[in-house]
Amino acid sequence: MAIIFNEENRHFYLEGKDISYIFRINRIGFAEHLYFGRRIGRENMEYMQSIGSGSAYVQMPGERNQSYSYYNPELCFYGTGDYREPTFMVKNPLGDRLCRLHYTGHEILSEKPKIKGMPSLSGGETLVLHLEDELTHFAADLYYTVYDEYPVIARRTVFKNNSDSELVLDRAYSFNLSLSHSNYKILSLQGSWGYERQMQYTDMHRGVVSVDSKRCTSSAILSPFMALLSPDADEDRGIAIGVNLVYSSSFVLKVEGTSEGKGNICGGINDFDFEWHLAPGEELETPEAVIVYSDEGLGKMSRAYHDVYREKLINPRFVKKQRPIVINNWEGTYFNFNTEKLIEMAKAVKGLGIDTFVLDDGWFGHRDDDSTSLGDWFVYEEKLPGGLKPVIDAVHENGMKFGLWFEPEMISEDSELFKKHPDYAIGVPGRDRCKSRRQFMLDLTRADVRDYIVNTVNKIISENEIDYVKWDYNRNVTDNYSLGIPRDRQKEFAHRYALGLYDICERIVNQNPHIIFEGCAGGGARFDPAMLYYFPQIWTSDNTDAEERTKIQYGTSICYPVSAMSCHVSAVPNHQTRRSCEMRTRADIAHLGPTGYELDPTLFTDEDKELVKTQINAYKEDAELVLCGDLYRVENPFEGNYFGFMQVSKDKSRAKLTCYRRMNTKDEIKFVYPKGLDPDKRYYIPEREQTLMGSTIMYAGLQPEFAPRDFVTKVFHFIENLEQEIK
Ligand code: DGJ
Repeated sequence: MAIIFNEENRHFYLEGKDISYIFRINRIGFAEHLYFGRRIGRENMEYMQSIGSGSAYVQMPGERNQSYSYYNPELCFYGTGDYREPTFMVKNPLGDRLCRLHYTGHEILSEKPKIKGMPSLSGGETLVLHLEDELTHFAADLYYTVYDEYPVIARRTVFKNNSDSELVLDRAYSFNLSLSHSNYKILSLQGSWGYERQMQYTDMHRGVVSVDSKRCTSSAILSPFMALLSPDADEDRGIAIGVNLVYSSSFVLKVEGTSEGKGNICGGINDFDFEWHLAPGEELETPEAVIVYSDEGLGKMSRAYHDVYREKLINPRFVKKQRPIVINNWEGTYFNFNTEKLIEMAKAVKGLGIDTFVLDDGWFGHRDDDSTSLGDWFVYEEKLPGGLKPVIDAVHENGMKFGLWFEPEMISEDSELFKKHPDYAIGVPGRDRCKSRRQFMLDLTRADVRDYIVNTVNKIISENEIDYVKWDYNRNVTDNYSLGIPRDRQKEFAHRYALGLYDICERIVNQNPHIIFEGCAGGGARFDPAMLYYFPQIWTSDNTDAEERTKIQYGTSICYPVSAMSCHVSAVPNHQTRRSCEMRTRADIAHLGPTGYELDPTLFTDEDKELVKTQINAYKEDAELVLCGDLYRVENPFEGNYFGFMQVSKDKSRAKLTCYRRMNTKDEIKFVYPKGLDPDKRYYIPEREQTLMGSTIMYAGLQPEFAPRDFVTKVFHFIENLEQEIK
């Protein structure tokens, strides 16, 4: 890893594992991008500057006979003949929106500074580039972090008002990345409730392709992620450049095919309905963008994301620690439970290997359906007489820990809280608020509302023996307005919501360091890196059907590690799709991540119990692969009849291949080609009682010999074999 500044040619060389990122300060004093990609030498890269046809010639002030309309900027600014998407828009005291940011200095830091009020990666070496407009003294600090261990560059910008007057930002993106051509396909992750992170491709073209959210959440509709793929790219070959925002509110990412066939990616906080006032001396931090470069296709890009998130983002207290294997009562009972029922459920799983009982929605206020009580975080005594204690005691007696569900950001109209503080709900006074899932949202931009949430949630936690919390979020923001924000600053609402959310997460998570928090948002509608900073695992989707889960988990793995994807075995017919997949299939797919069971275990037969016990034992043996392994995607369910995930230990001594076939086909001859093994190692495959070279397994392939039914799985283990002769 190195960040080097060459004083002579004013080039910055930023080097991470396998990658180089090079820019220079040009004659005018602008930061000019020269190269990003596979590691190269520290040469004079001036020759990379664009030699355009001059058709859009614009002469910069002070420069005679020099066109700068084609220079590739590190940050695009408006009004200079650069017609790309500007990285920011600022309104000056005169009313103009002009700005020219010149280099004023830089620092190279070995300690990565935290972003104030927002999660970000840790570690790495960081360059801070200082730029300022000579006239208005509006300034920007550009942060670049590189790592020895990952082909990753993390980018963000801090916008500063160094002037004596107020400045207003209409746009404040985190980064801009210039591309020397636009011959890419764009991959994004789209979806909806129960169908999150489906792979979607489009071609890059002249003009802008954007993915965004205007919902004050990172959303199930489009994830804060994009990848650019060279035309030949697949899982293992070609170029893949990923961009993922560490952010949970309204975001935008844009890819632009620009003049002369070049390109540009930029993004950050969505500038839709956005404005930010900067008083003299104030600054605005923007969320971090994690950019990965891979020249070995999507597979290497994903593994880089998985590694950097596991090592530099997710809470180290939990990231590699054996996760709870839960029984969650939601699909087993929904709101219809009482103390006796919960105790029966706890007894029913005794001895099966399940270690945590999670009580889901419906334990508080007077909540018997989704129309009431959010915000009233006290126990529903009529349903649970004596409080949570009798349930928790029974759970402990049956050898498990106890977990509890909250939806801290919400308020029901039918609640004590709303009676007392209707103003706590987001909305404009006098205007009917929109309900969604029959509830309103709390105004997290207000400190008093945040204090209420932190105090009430922490109170319940401190009064009970709780080891696990599921933090749910079941609707998106509407009625965007806060009584706590001045009238002329209402467009700060969406970003202030994110800052409020991070504040309550910080305070609740930090005050309860022994608790593992699982994120959730009506399934996986807020699955983003910022949430992973607080919640080492996130409920991947409310859709628990194994068939549909293969796609959801495949898409989610594009940028998030399997250790972050909570996956449960549920009952059949499946509650979302009415499909019935056999128990083995359901478990094989659910056991690809942190796992559990979400059904009524009092309905288990003795045979079911034996099966669950065997499945959990097997899962525990492979847990290390889920938590720390490398993921290789072997079969793509978006493209065919099969799904395949290969989980390989870092030292390549152990691996597991989970294959799935959707539809049975007559006379099928199917080979799968495992990946990620050491070609020179010998592996024992217990399912075949056979030892083969890694090379043989990977290049000659294996036949799964699926059972002749629809929706079936086959699992193979590969265990490095130092003793046995090759059979
Ligand atoms: C949505 C979640 O995704 C479910 O798992 C469950 O917790 C319900 N909310 C409870 O309301």
